Amino acid sequence: PRGAARGTDGVLRTAGVDVRDLAGRHGTPLFVLDEDDFRSRCAEFAAAFGASSVHYAAKAFLCTEVARWVAEEGLSLDVCSGGELAVAQRAAFPPERIALHGNNKSVEELAAAVDVGVGGIVLDSFDEIARLEAVAAERGATAPVLIRLTVGVEAHTHEYIATAHEDQKFGFSIAAAGDAKDSAALEAARRVLAARHLELVGLHSHIGSQIFDTEGFEAAARRVVKVLADLHTEHGADNLAALRTLDLGGGIGIAYRPGEAPLSMPALAEELRAIVKRECAAAGLDVPAIAVEPGRAIAGPGTVTLYEVGTIKDVPLGGGYSRRYVSVDGGMSDNIRTSLYDAEYDVRLVSRSSERDAVQGGAGGAPDGAEPVLSRVVGKHCESGDIVVRDCWLPADLAPGDLLAVAATGAYCYAMASGYNRLPRPAVVAVREGADRTLLRRETLEDQFRFEV
Ligand code: LLP
Repeated sequence: PRGAARGTDGVLRTAGVDVRDLAGRHGTPLFVLDEDDFRSRCAEFAAAFGASSVHYAAKAFLCTEVARWVAEEGLSLDVCSGGELAVAQRAAFPPERIALHGNNKSVEELAAAVDVGVGGIVLDSFDEIARLEAVAAERGATAPVLIRLTVGVEAHTHEYIATAHEDQKFGFSIAAAGDAKDSAALEAARRVLAARHLELVGLHSHIGSQIFDTEGFEAAARRVVKVLADLHTEHGADNLAALRTLDLGGGIGIAYRPGEAPLSMPALAEELRAIVKRECAAAGLDVPAIAVEPGRAIAGPGTVTLYEVGTIKDVPLGGGYSRRYVSVDGGMSDNIRTSLYDAEYDVRLVSRSSERDAVQGGAGGAPDGAEPVLSRVVGKHCESGDIVVRDCWLPADLAPGDLLAVAATGAYCYAMASGYNRLPRPAVVAVREGADRTLLRRETLEDQFRFEV
């Protein structure tokens, strides 16, 4: 089994390491990242789509060591800022396997990408086409580019809605709007093809996040192929010889709570290949490569956050019910997803002397003798929205000093961490085959003064 698991002795271990021991040595809050889990998810995507066609979305979580793992697994890397690009370079990530994203890349970021020789720059606006052409011309370079399409499919957690999502900052619309005789996407392609220092290598689409069904991806794939066909009609195959990739973005959902069923990777890849093949055949086009950009689905599942329980407070709700506020030593500065997106997490009591398990979601799985109490795990920040897990059942005899583990915190938790209330950012340790090593050290009090001049 991957990720943190409780052994027959009742002890929560991840990659064979007793998490109590990790908390003891590294302190809490602590991110514990299972390296083999991360790598095996890379390998699954690689097997399904072809390694270099899988761009790990660095925004989910990146540090130098993780960039090295991604490189070793043969994947490509999606970066969306000069900062992420710098980490990739520090890891000596092969530049031709890096793609740069962003709706407002600076001239410096574009220049860095051209100088490094990235394999793709995903263009997002007319301004940017001109800006990148100027940057590349100045360097006498040719920049490989993809055009980001707004395909009118937006998928978010269990639902996708076709059309009506033109009204957003990303990409070129594929629909003709207002007085325009055709779409911004076709006009963008015209300008790119006319630019002497840009080479059109792909079309890109990203439809949303935490997606559990294939329909949104399928609709996007059909629409992207339609644009490819329109481009062929207008410009001819010879002028589009370098356009060989359709990047369908990221967004593959993960199970945050027991019972959630993520998409199967081989099945999604099969499905998308079949659609693209069919649509291309119908339009008389060569079949391009399909690329994807998973972040959460690679980094998310294999990490747990360990917290120490501090104060516990019961608030009567009336009718004999009460809610228990269990405060931990981190909160919205290390996981803002609950307050920002109403995200749900699975929290477990890490084994302690009583070895009594947490009871999940009131699902009836209470171990003998457990007395679950409706609880809310909250942080230590100075605001009431600082919630880590909104509703959960924890044992009645939970006590200050107990350890809690929140699952699936590998994506967009550390990456979105802040120093709010001057809490130190937690450390991140990687565990593998019974051993652990620190990837990112915990911030110290000294670090609080780092930026003061
Ligand atoms: N590609 C592009 C162009 C993206 O914008 C994103 C995510 C990804 C790939 C990776 O998506 P993933 O596979 O990780 O879902 N902070 C939010 C998620 C925002 C994602 C933004 N873009 C969260 O915590 O849920």
